[in-house]
Amino acid sequence: MTVTSPRAVERLVTGQPTTDGAGVKLTRVLTHDLQRRLDPFLMLDNFASDDPKDYGAGFPDHPHRGFETVTYMIAGRMRHRDSAGNEGLLQNGGVQWMTAGRGLVHSEMPEQEAGVMEGFQLWLNLPGRDKMCTPGYRDIQSTEIPEFTTAEGVTVRVISGHSHGVSGAVARPVDAYPTDPLYLDLHFPAGGAVFNQPLPAGHNAFLYTYRGTVQVVEGSGQATPVPLHRMAILDNSGDGVRLQAEAGSAPARALLIAGRPLKEPIAQYGPFVMNTREELMTAVEDFQNGRLA
Ligand code: CO
Repeated sequence: MTVTSPRAVERLVTGQPTTDGAGVKLTRVLTHDLQRRLDPFLMLDNFASDDPKDYGAGFPDHPHRGFETVTYMIAGRMRHRDSAGNEGLLQNGGVQWMTAGRGLVHSEMPEQEAGVMEGFQLWLNLPGRDKMCTPGYRDIQSTEIPEFTTAEGVTVRVISGHSHGVSGAVARPVDAYPTDPLYLDLHFPAGGAVFNQPLPAGHNAFLYTYRGTVQVVEGSGQATPVPLHRMAILDNSGDGVRLQAEAGSAPARALLIAGRPLKEPIAQYGPFVMNTREELMTAVEDFQNGRLA
């Protein structure tokens, strides 16, 4: 794939340790203050612990309205149940893609009492016209995620969008889903392999390293390291991104996420994300009156 003018790193971000659900310890990588800059993405959480005290309490019943949640499990088992009657087990390498639309109430509970629980939850906004759509839900097993390895040895898991001619597990018509999300999990071997990914001009993009260190190589050849557990916000110039593992280093892994901004007002109150304050008040009222269940 050709990238002639690769994007540079605009800013490196360190996530904020926090707790959510019934006390699950996690790192909020994409925080509220970055929602405009990384539109259409609203949040990225990274949970990673081998201590059941950090994750055991899970995420009991809670509502969502107005956006999509994409949960990618690297290691561990989480049971999902929602008020529409859906139930699924999310495990090792699998993805749950939920379109909350007009709303539902669900729980996300660990189904393990020991071992490592590691993964990510991304919030992807819906355009105003679709915020009240019928909720939808897909469980994608690890084996259903298209995967390929480049000549340089970089393994690419295509969760959504397209890369090097391979369509992701979620590849939707752009007119129906204008955010056109790209979600790649990149595994670099030790020793400096390069990976190029074209990105449409104007799409906001970021990289999050979760093993080792990945570098972003600019047009000038200058390489900016993105260390472990850092997010790099990519600038909006150029026609793609060029990534490289550090020469001689251990294998590295990173998520590359990009999408078309909606450029609409964002009004958030906890698990509800709408366009206006009035719509948020309706959401709270609907939840309190049992209209999301
Ligand atoms: Co949830």
